[in-house]
Amino acid sequence: MNWGKSCAAMALSLVLGATGALVVGSTAPLAQAAGESFEMGDAKAGEKVFRKCMACHEVGPGAKAKVGPPLTGVIGRHAGGVDGFEYSDAMSTKSQEGLVWTPENINHMLAKPKDFLPGTKMSFAGLRKDKERADVIAYLATFSDK
Ligand code: HEC
Repeated sequence: MNWGKSCAAMALSLVLGATGALVVGSTAPLAQAAGESFEMGDAKAGEKVFRKCMACHEVGPGAKAKVGPPLTGVIGRHAGGVDGFEYSDAMSTKSQEGLVWTPENINHMLAKPKDFLPGTKMSFAGLRKDKERADVIAYLATFSDK
């Protein structure tokens, strides 16, 4: 697979267009205006960062649930949106409240999952570096319309 940067950027603008519309109509406290300050990173570098997620997540066409839900198309999707996956009560509540996985919200979640979502089943310390988060989100964005 060789996803170029321009391809990721294109996917991003499509995604932001779509999520922007979703978020504007949402009353969820955590759903913030898409595109406010978040800058996508480098999808190629993000593919390497994603190795830290692979113990629990698959992404791409045909990705399946492992410990965590498949992340294909996660950007712009409702939190807890994979049918049949057993989310934590914390995630199910956020889902009902209308949380959408904008790049900004994923960025906050990945910084420290347990702070963003107390009670989450995602046992992952978090990605401390801004660049790692921006890169892995850019990588996820390349799978957003599959
Ligand atoms: C130890 C296993 C584990 C690791 C490592 C992990 N996750 Fe997760 N992830 C989970 C679980 C379990 C959930 C479901 C959480 C819940 O229900 O509270 C989840 C949920 C998510 C969600 C929300 C999905 C949805 O459908 O609502 C995103 C986005 C996500 N993870 C991204 C990542 C990324 C990116 C990484 C790597 C930087 C990562 N995760 C690393 C286990 C993991």
